[in-house]
Amino acid sequence: MSDSKTTTTPADKTAGADYSKGLEGVVAAETSLSLVDGKNSRLFYRGISIHELAQQSNFAETIYLLWNGKLPSAEELLNFQKEIAAERPVQKEVLEVLKCIPLSAHPMAVLRTMTSVLGTFDSEADARDPEANRRKAIRLVAKFPTLIAAFYRLREGKEIVAPQQSLSLAEDFYYMMQGRQPDMEMERALDAYLILLADHGLNASTFAGRVTVATQSDIYSAVTSAVGTLKGDLHGSANQRAMEMILEIGKPEKAEDYIKNLLAQKKKVMGFGHRIYKTQDPRAVAFRKIAEDMCKKAGDDTWMDISNRVEKYMWDTKQIPCNVDFFSASVLYVLGFPVDFFTTVFAASRVAGWTAHIIEQMLDNRLIRPAAAYKGPMDQHYIPVEKR
Ligand SMILES: CC(C)(COP(=O)(O)OP(=O)(O)OC[C@H]1O[C@@H](n2cnc3c(N)ncnc32)[C@H](O)[C@@H]1OP(=O)(O)O)[C@@H](O)C(=O)NCCC(=O)NCCS
Repeated sequence: MSDSKTTTTPADKTAGADYSKGLEGVVAAETSLSLVDGKNSRLFYRGISIHELAQQSNFAETIYLLWNGKLPSAEELLNFQKEIAAERPVQKEVLEVLKCIPLSAHPMAVLRTMTSVLGTFDSEADARDPEANRRKAIRLVAKFPTLIAAFYRLREGKEIVAPQQSLSLAEDFYYMMQGRQPDMEMERALDAYLILLADHGLNASTFAGRVTVATQSDIYSAVTSAVGTLKGDLHGSANQRAMEMILEIGKPEKAEDYIKNLLAQKKKVMGFGHRIYKTQDPRAVAFRKIAEDMCKKAGDDTWMDISNRVEKYMWDTKQIPCNVDFFSASVLYVLGFPVDFFTTVFAASRVAGWTAHIIEQMLDNRLIRPAAAYKGPMDQHYIPVEKR
């Protein structure tokens, strides 16, 4: 064996360059889409506070804002909503592929696969002109809820419910999942969810999408990368894990001991902590109120009581605030989404931001290619297999 202790540092371009594990604090893109203001716990889309949008806008209008940099006129909004509604149905061949996927697959794995499948059925998949990209972005935003709901219905052994063009995006999503329309409060809650998750600076999945498209790959490949990245527990799947934890706690009086025990085992409490928001996630503030309202409406405060006690304990003992995935988990639960589908609902919202970022990257592209600081051995030699 050669002497692997010999570790000469290679004199390459990366020697001496700054290294930031996890790219923390590194500014890797310019964007006009959203401002994530960690210091002041604020989030803006195109300069408008998410709180104003969640209270007064709807998801279609928010997508228009993100993609076009301005709020639409009444006529522009109507036409935009019609365009999205027309793209909601999924080709029957795509549904045939969906039916081949094992029902035991995780819904996020299914969505990742089906995003890629959608690309193979789109004759414009590789077209790079802005109009074609806009059409593809509409298809992705429109078809995500249809695919998610179709897989849910298949898994439940129920008939797939076709989209209804007269419904809003949020109403239709709920309708295709449950087979009945939501009441006004439920629609508002789901709409607010979709608005509040639509974009968030250079989060991990958006970064993955931008990296993919920066190689001059296509929008479907980029969104497939993004879905795969959102699937991780430290990112989008935290909403599923947070709800599983809340359900396992089960009773408000058990909350503190449960968290104490988790922390003693040096485990992460899901739905807490954030790379940028260190005191408060503004989306969590909005979701706390929505969760309170929804739990009251459902006549059951259990999830809220547990959540409040977990939040207080985490703050009192660790000064770690909850993030977007904590209270929003209870909102999705009360809306009737199965817990393992939570992250797909997140994706149905974030696809608006992903496509906006992907197109922004295309408009002013440079290959995204950071360097790695090599720390392995040097001066090794190949040894023929019979001599090892
Ligand atoms: C989101 C997250 C990955 C941010 O991570 P980060 O910026 O790399 O921060 P770190 O993981 O370095 O955390 C800093 C400190 O806080 C602790 N911490 C952070 N989040 C924590 C959590 N959810 N539960 C317990 N401790 C946590 C870390 O253990 C670390 O403590 P240490 O300095 O004693 O080692 C992290 O907070 C986390 O894993 N949260 C749970 C998953 C989650 O909710 N993700 C959704 C994010 S929107």
